[in-house]
Amino acid sequence: MLVMEKNAMTEEIELLVSKYGQSRSSLIPILQDIQRKHKYIPDFAQQEVARLLDIHPVEVFSVISFYSFLNTTPKGKYIVRLCQTISCDMQGKAAVAKAIERELGIKFGETSRDSKFTLEFANCVGMCDQGPAMIINERVYSKLTPEKAVQILNELK
Ligand code: FES
Repeated sequence: MLVMEKNAMTEEIELLVSKYGQSRSSLIPILQDIQRKHKYIPDFAQQEVARLLDIHPVEVFSVISFYSFLNTTPKGKYIVRLCQTISCDMQGKAAVAKAIERELGIKFGETSRDSKFTLEFANCVGMCDQGPAMIINERVYSKLTPEKAVQILNELK
């Protein structure tokens, strides 16, 4: 079983390498595709990306660590990223964060038991004049209030 999984992952990464090319600049698009499909980048996938791009595994790991949208552990179906940068902070981020935590019964940095939601803080998501802002998977939500944030989560439950 383990061997089959390994082979499937290797095949998947080989396809990505042929899609994006074997140069270093392919590293991020390949990791993004793996992340999109699996919601995280397993250890074995990191090793295989390094092997197939002929780079050191530490380089793959440091790229994953640098970008908040890439993860090495499984996350919830919905990854809620609330902007914590100054404009959103001054526009009421704390109250929105509290309402989200209360609604889901978890803290930022945690994943719900049913693996549906992961809460994370993000740095500026480019909606500074419309804060507080958050991104859930790839969709941006702006001008949040505690009530609006709770309503958005309830629609996803
Ligand atoms: S500061 Fe929150 S989107 Fe820029």
